[in-house]
Amino acid sequence: MYSLISLFIHFLLNDVTNGLYNAALYKPAVQSSTYGSYVAHLAVDGSRISNIQYGHCQHTLNDNMPWWMVDLRGQFVVDTIRLTNRMDSGFYTRLQNFSFDVFDEDPRRLPNFPNITGKVCYRQISNMLKETLNVTCSPQAIGRFLRLLMNVTIGALDICEVEVFVSDSLNDRRLFTIRLDTKLPGSGLDTLTASDPASCVQECLARRSSPCTAFIWVTTTKTCQLFSVNPSYDQTPYLVPSPGTHFYVQDNNF
Ligand SMILES: *[C@@H]1O[C@H](CO)[C@@H](O)[C@H](O)[C@H]1NC(C)=O
Ligand SMILES: *[C@@H]1O[C@H](CO)[C@@H](O)[C@H](O)[C@H]1NC(C)=O
Ligand SMILES: *[C@@H]1O[C@H](CO)[C@@H](O)[C@H](O)[C@H]1NC(C)=O
Ligand SMILES: *[C@@H]1O[C@H](CO)[C@@H](O)[C@H](O)[C@H]1NC(C)=O
Repeated sequence: MYSLISLFIHFLLNDVTNGLYNAALYKPAVQSSTYGSYVAHLAVDGSRISNIQYGHCQHTLNDNMPWWMVDLRGQFVVDTIRLTNRMDSGFYTRLQNFSFDVFDEDPRRLPNFPNITGKVCYRQISNMLKETLNVTCSPQAIGRFLRLLMNVTIGALDICEVEVFVSDSLNDRRLFTIRLDTKLPGSGLDTLTASDPASCVQECLARRSSPCTAFIWVTTTKTCQLFSVNPSYDQTPYLVPSPGTHFYVQDNNF
């Protein structure tokens, strides 16, 4: 059931325009703290639904300098960022004194985080008064970690989607975890023959505009079947035993 929904949303959002694609979709995300069930990865779940009640927005507690960050799992050339703000209950004006910046390494390891500045893509002091904001990084920023920081003494960050359009990846460091003798039913994105699972990984990573995040490797026929499921959700309820077929899924642990 879930995979059907995620595929539908994916087609809605991840159209490739001018060779750009959204590198943030289904990638691991973290935030300064979490209010209720509004975890960080909900801002990269492929849904622009801007009413938080539908469960596709993140929300921090009231923090000093609240922040949200996605790990793109590779060095990417960031061209444009599209932000979808939370629009219900008048909370859209909360977002103020914010910036998007990019880091090569996990900035949480740096002294004084979060009160540090990476390669700044965009900064705005005034309150956000609208649903979407399109930001063009000028010059293009290159990095792996994209952060949204609200530089306020105390405040909550609650936004619904961050799409990070990139023109190129200098590498792709995604890892896959394996569930032996298990498969995900359904037809997925595509089925192809390959010499070994490593070739399947390469084929999977090459599907940039349709982000392949999982595949099954069928040892008897030497075929792999590619899937676009959200790896931040546990796929276990959808997996079925299948001797000789192995399920590989993108590792989203931070
Ligand atoms: C953040 O760093 C600046 C100096 O770069 C300092 O003036 C400011 O007080 C710091 N803010 C916090 C909350 O630590
Ligand atoms: C946050 O704002 C303070 C001034 O209000 C400034 O000194 C500090 O450098 C800012 N920090 C960041 C990370 O932008
Ligand atoms: C941002 O760009 C998209 C298309 O890429 C457009 O549909 C949307 O209206 C833009 N938003 C703003 C605030 O310009
Ligand atoms: C926003 O930033 C400006 C300039 O750094 C500062 O004067 C103002 O106090 C900040 N607002 C809040 C709510 O922190």
